[in-house]
Amino acid sequence: MTEQATAQIGVTGLAVMGRNLARNLARNGFTVAVHNRSPERTRTLVAEHGDEGTFVPAESLADFVAALERPRAVIIMVKAGAPTDAVIDELVPLLEAGDIVIDCGNAHFADTRRREEALRTHGLHFVGTGVSGGEEGALLGPSIMPGGSAESYAKLGPIFEKIAAQVEGTPCCVHVGPDGAGHFVKMVHNGIEYADMQLIAEAYDLLRAGLDATPAEIAEIFREWNTGELESFLIEITADVLAHTDADTGKPFVDVVQDRAEQKGTGRWTVQSALDLGIPITGIAEATFARSLSGHAGQREAARRAFPDAGEKWQVSDREAFVEDVRRALLASKIVAYAQGFDHIRAGSSEYDWNIDLGSTATIWRGGCIIRARFLDRIKQAYDQQPDLPSLLVAPYFAEAVAAGVPSWRRVVADAARAGVPAPAFGSSLSYFDALRADRLPAALIQGLRDNFGAHTYQRVDREGSFHILWAADRSEVAG
Ligand code: 6PG
Repeated sequence: MTEQATAQIGVTGLAVMGRNLARNLARNGFTVAVHNRSPERTRTLVAEHGDEGTFVPAESLADFVAALERPRAVIIMVKAGAPTDAVIDELVPLLEAGDIVIDCGNAHFADTRRREEALRTHGLHFVGTGVSGGEEGALLGPSIMPGGSAESYAKLGPIFEKIAAQVEGTPCCVHVGPDGAGHFVKMVHNGIEYADMQLIAEAYDLLRAGLDATPAEIAEIFREWNTGELESFLIEITADVLAHTDADTGKPFVDVVQDRAEQKGTGRWTVQSALDLGIPITGIAEATFARSLSGHAGQREAARRAFPDAGEKWQVSDREAFVEDVRRALLASKIVAYAQGFDHIRAGSSEYDWNIDLGSTATIWRGGCIIRARFLDRIKQAYDQQPDLPSLLVAPYFAEAVAAGVPSWRRVVADAARAGVPAPAFGSSLSYFDALRADRLPAALIQGLRDNFGAHTYQRVDREGSFHILWAADRSEVAG
């Protein structure tokens, strides 16, 4: 039984992420109350890591709450969804006005908005917080994306900023905005993570087909790429995974893994939200669908049998030039994914009145998180220079990188199509780029068709107003 409230913060839910977050807090000098539904985990944490800082273990939720200084700050780190609601329901009666409940799980931002509203009626702060970086990040310094009230951030900011990853002395943590803003930004982060991974996977596949190279040889190419503009955590671990050999068979590890990509759903949420907001995050959508497609084993088998040899033989003559083409196409497609992700955040911010600073968002992602990359500095600079930038694509640094990559991008996408190697994210990103920069889009024809079959009306390029053609009569134009 705890006698005194001494803990500055508490963590309930001590599976690997919760445990590591609690250890990170303790290692940074905070007194941390720890609790888990089955107390075994609490005991193990203290037995194994008790010497890393000051933990206050509690076996009941009531003792856990009693161990916390006021206003209490309670981190919930349980599986997103019903388990989070169950913990909140148990916690709320034990708390008092002014206390702060922090959900660090991968919650859907709509759930966070609902919970924030509900807890507000009890005078409690609910802070949906995105945490990225996996197990290691949680322990050594994650990227932290807190939502919730400014008042709650006054207490949490100094704690979170201390335990977050630091890049050149700046913490990868900023108050993102009210209620669900933090979880929204984390969701888009995961969407970009999907796109980034799909693009990397396509680049690997193209290199393998075009060069007829081994995974270990391709690992070297990624290692090299990681010293330049593409430098990022995901490129670094790609080299690692490709270089790994299966201990059982001696084959490249990547060849013994089933080619069916799974997902917990955050990529899907990103696409669903973008559809609602009308933001074309085509790269993220392609990446999400590519994972789904990979899982349709029966259809894939049937199509493989029906079309055994649908592509041309691929012969790369200049290997070095081809590798450089793929690198440039990857960089350009990756810029598209980020441009779309930031468009999405801007749209969410305006829809839900979050006032999110896009440059600061890039700061949060510079370190700690899965999509950390060298060029996030450039994103921050771009939005600092022009907060109302219409698209990241047109910011000087990115515009230059994309323009320099266009010929490579076209060659790679065309070669892939000829050879029958799927490159949906590369192709879709290039089409997005071409659509954005087109003088005229065939959307005009779509408007004409809609007017023809459904009298949906259209606007003209030369006059204000809505119009309709009397298609079935004399085809005259009338006001719509
Ligand atoms: C992170 C990751 C983490 C994660 C998700 C996505 O930021 O630390 O984004 O949240 O890897 O669980 O995983 P799926 O690929 O299973 O959807």
